[in-house]
Order: sequence, then structure tokens, then C-alpha cells
Amino acid sequence: MGFRKDFLWGGATAANQCEGGYNLDGRGLANVDVVPIGQDRFPIITGKMKAFDFDDEHFYPAKEAIDMYHHFKEDIALFAEMGFKTYRMSIAWSRIFPQGDEKEPNEAGLKFYEDVFKECRKYNIEPLVTITHFDCPMHLIKEYGAWRSRELVGFYENLCRVIFNRYKGLVKYWLTFNEINMILHAPFMGAGLYFEEGDNVEQVKYQAAHHELLASAIATKIAHEVDPENQVGCMLAAGNYYPYTPNPKDVWAGMQADRDNYFFIDVQSRGEYPAYALKELERQGIEIKMEEGDKELLKEHTVDFISFSYYSSRVMSTDPEVNDKTAGNIFASLKNPYLEASEWGWQIDPLGLRITMNALYDRYQKPLFIVENGLGAVDTPDENGYVEDDYRIEYLREHVAAMKDAVEQDGVDLLGYTTWGCIDLVSAGTGEMKKRYGFIYVDRDNDGNGTLKRSKKKSFDWYKQVIASNGENLD
Ligand code: BG6
Repeated sequence: MGFRKDFLWGGATAANQCEGGYNLDGRGLANVDVVPIGQDRFPIITGKMKAFDFDDEHFYPAKEAIDMYHHFKEDIALFAEMGFKTYRMSIAWSRIFPQGDEKEPNEAGLKFYEDVFKECRKYNIEPLVTITHFDCPMHLIKEYGAWRSRELVGFYENLCRVIFNRYKGLVKYWLTFNEINMILHAPFMGAGLYFEEGDNVEQVKYQAAHHELLASAIATKIAHEVDPENQVGCMLAAGNYYPYTPNPKDVWAGMQADRDNYFFIDVQSRGEYPAYALKELERQGIEIKMEEGDKELLKEHTVDFISFSYYSSRVMSTDPEVNDKTAGNIFASLKNPYLEASEWGWQIDPLGLRITMNALYDRYQKPLFIVENGLGAVDTPDENGYVEDDYRIEYLREHVAAMKDAVEQDGVDLLGYTTWGCIDLVSAGTGEMKKRYGFIYVDRDNDGNGTLKRSKKKSFDWYKQVIASNGENLD
């Protein structure tokens, strides 16, 4: 048994965390460029502090990142050496439409990604493309208030039409919005939302979410029209909630917290607002403005597969005495006393991956794709840039074993697995380079110093052997 013969092993990155070249060849500015490293990052990504441009006081790691803009051939060759079957990456919207609302795209931006996809194809690597990985052109934020405006749906549609036509035959797998539920937790980074004094924050977030959900359905429709071979997925920041105790109140609270996140995928996969969400929105006095035809679009153009990121499970309690928190992927959780944690406090729970996979598969009955999983850690390279990252191998081994159980023992249909940050890149949460995920070390530090030289870590050869054995050899 084991994984399917055509299992898509690979790695994942996002444009803003690796490309750099923020102002090259006509690229416009985006929200992801202006989020600095340091203590202001969190207030900015959550939309509480305004940052619409650069200033002299901050360092902006995305400006250059690891300069994949100029290194992509070298990087893809290394991915190919590991045996990647797929490479998950994102396009930067503002490279293709610098302002976001133009009619005609920027040819230089289109050409750049065409070159990247062709480079992948040269090695039989299937590109898996995230259309929006947290980025929104700055002009759309300043002029339209980003996704709070319905006009964004049309601009996104235009982007999709252009890329689906241009990359027909080169790209088949698409994800519409990275971690769409992040709009609730990091609204500026996730959807370009900045809140003015007096804004009804929840109302704005859910209206913006409706626009994204609609845009996602329209993208799915066009993708299928342009090329019936196209496969479109949604993308969830996943990780199930566990109740802290068997107290039914904890169980109920955990279920509700899961639903806050499932809500988006319920719409994208099942095609309608779920009953529990309609009731909750009503209770909160949130009114979603819909136009004629919206419901039909959502219903008729559901996704082909469910993709998600998984780093950790989460814990929920209703007891005010239970308040020992630990960091997690943007939103913090209570500490689970049964689990160890990474250096950044993210708790490590391989069985939680199997639990999450089963919960998603039971709920949607569509193929799953794990498009992010990995360990952010401090690496100490020797003089040749070699890192003995046994801790990373250990983390990945256990997670691959758990996903194998979900496939073999539970019958979950899994299309592929792309580890997060297959090459070291800028952290989305903290802006650090020090928090490394890669099989490939990149010589660059938090302040932007370093030669950008790439070198293989110990995990490079380990992953190569995992792929070569289609997940049979994890030693
Ligand atoms: C996910 C994002 O939230 O987690 C990635 O899709 C991000 O962009 C990854 O990098 C890991 O988070 P962090 O904060 O360690 O970079």
C-alpha cells in the first residue's frame, strides 16, 4: 500500500518570504513589503498599527529576502537534486499588476514566473501555485481598503484570467488564498486590512472574507473553463483543537474554535455558508452584504481538493485558571502538558497531524494536500555551511510517519506533501531569518548581512532518500 504512485513530494515557499527584488522590473509595492522585523511587526500584521510605506527606523526583510529573484535556477536545481516532484510557490500579485487595478499586466512580471515554471518543468517538477500568499498590492489597500471593497473581486478575477491563460500547460495545481482563515488573526498580512478608529472590526473582517470566498469561487470557475485539467484547492491554517479536560464546556469551546476556522473551507468545499456560521453572524450583529448570484457562484464552483498547513494542534479550556499559553502559528494556544515545543514555543504533535487529516477528510471527503509542515529552528552551520539538523529530521520523520498512518490505516486520500520553507527564508510571523525551516541553508542573518550562499544541511540527504523510497525509508 503506502503513498500513491504519483505522490507529490516537495517543498513550499512564498514569494514575499524568498524572492526579494521588491522594486525590480516594474513590481509594485505590497502589504508584505512594509512589515518590518521587530516589536512593531505584530501590531502591523494585525491591522492595529498603520504602515503603508517604508520608514528609516525599521528593517524590512522582504525587500531582499533570500533574493530568489536572481537565484531561482540554482535553487530549483537543488530541489531537483532532492528529487522534488512538486514545488509549491506563490506569485506576487504586484509583479503582474503593480497597482492591482490596471487592465493590462506587466509583461516582465509574467515572464519571470514563466521562466520559473519552465525551470521546474525542465526537471519534471510540477509547480503548485498559490495565487495569493498574504500579498495585496499597496495601491489597492490605499485606494480601496483592500478586501473590504467588493471591487477587489474583479481585480483578482482579472489576475486569475491572465495567469490561467498565460500559464496553461505549465501549471495545473492552484491554491486561491494561502491560509484563508488568517484574515481573522492577522488581517493586514492576510488581507491588507487596516482598521481605523470606530471601525466595526468583525463586520469588516467577515465582509472581506466574503469577498475572498467569492473571488476564490470565481477563480475556480475560470480555472476549469480555461483548462479542464486545472485542479484548484483551498488552503487552511489547520491544527485541531483539543479540549483541555473532558468537561463538556471545554469540548464545546474546542468545537466552536475549530468551526471558526472550518467556516472558510466549509464555504469553499461545500459551497454554502454553514448553519452554525449564519447563526453566529446573526448573534454578533454581522450582516454580510451579498449580491444576486453570489450564492450560486459559491455553490457551483467548489474546490477540487483541500490543502492545509499543519504545525501543531491547539488546546481550548473554559477554566480561567488554565491560562498557561504558548506561541503558535500567529494565534497562541494554551499549553498542552503532554507535548514538547520548538524553540519558538510551537508544540510538536505528529499524532495531531493524523487527527487533523482525519477530521478534514471525514468532513469534506475530498483529496487532501499537506502544503506546509516543518520545524523552525536555530541552525549552527560549520565553516562550509553544513548543518547537522537531526532535530529537523526527527520532526519531519515523525510527521511523515503520522501522515502515512492516516493514509495506510485510515484510508485518507492524500495527494502530496510539501514541507514549509524547503530553503531557509524569512519568517512570516516574526520576520526573522534565524527561524530556519530549510533543507538548504542560506547565509543571511536577521539584519540582512550574509553572502546569500546556499549549502546543503544533513536533512537534504535524508529527504532525498524519503522521496526516492516514496516514503518507505524514513531512517
Ligand atoms: C504559515 C504561512 O502561516 O506558516 C507561512 O503560510 C509561514 O507563510 C509559516 O512562514 C511558518 O510560520 P513562521 O511564522 O514561522 O514563518
